[in-house]
Amino acid sequence: FDPTALSDALPLPLYLQLARHLRALIVEGRLTDQDALPGERELAETFAVSRVTVRKALRELIAEGLLHQRQGAGTFINRSPHVEQRLSALTSFTEDIGGRGLKPDSRWLGRSAGTATPEEAMALGLRPGAEVVRLHRLRLADGTPLAIELSALPASFLPDPELVQGSLYETLRGRGHPPFRALQRLSAIRLPADQAALLGVPDGAPALYIERRTFLENGTPLEFVRSHYRGDAYDFVVELSLA
Ligand code: GLP
Repeated sequence: FDPTALSDALPLPLYLQLARHLRALIVEGRLTDQDALPGERELAETFAVSRVTVRKALRELIAEGLLHQRQGAGTFINRSPHVEQRLSALTSFTEDIGGRGLKPDSRWLGRSAGTATPEEAMALGLRPGAEVVRLHRLRLADGTPLAIELSALPASFLPDPELVQGSLYETLRGRGHPPFRALQRLSAIRLPADQAALLGVPDGAPALYIERRTFLENGTPLEFVRSHYRGDAYDFVVELSLA
């Protein structure tokens, strides 16, 4: 903690200055080895501010999802798995999470067969009205939700959504349709309320919207995925070489 981070001379209210300082410590991982924050009185003394100021600062960070309070026990930092994801390798969620020693899991939000929407037909190179299968999943690592994924596949490659129990890519490989190549587009968004609730983050929290089109080796589109990845849980890493 750095008490000099707060100053009466700054145009920002003290509680927001304190929130900003604590946020930076949490986000930079400098408070990782201690789960609980010091008590309100101790924080007030450290920063030479009132307990009201401390309380208001903590309330800000709780609303942002960085801290939580347990009755009688204190204030705790919310830990979430942090995943460093290479962008240049075509991997599945199960492989990404399992490879980091975390337990991958999915919760079904929906699974259905139906006719392709114009967007899906276009992305999958299907004629309008062709049959597709949709898998809508909340993806978790060690029980923490990290992403929401909606995959659509031509029914010719996956006739029944119930065929997928664990990994979709594993299922496709087992059926002789291994994913070979993918095109992916990432954009920054703020999560709408329903998705934020599923991911356990505050409304409007930052996220990455990722669209992926996956192809078979012969170039046939296999999968069209629209997904939302928590911005606080992922670093996407890519290697660049001289063009
Ligand atoms: C990643 C990709 C998705 C893909 C999924 C398959 O999460 N972003 O586009 O559908 O992996 O994962 P799994 O094989 O674990 O179902």
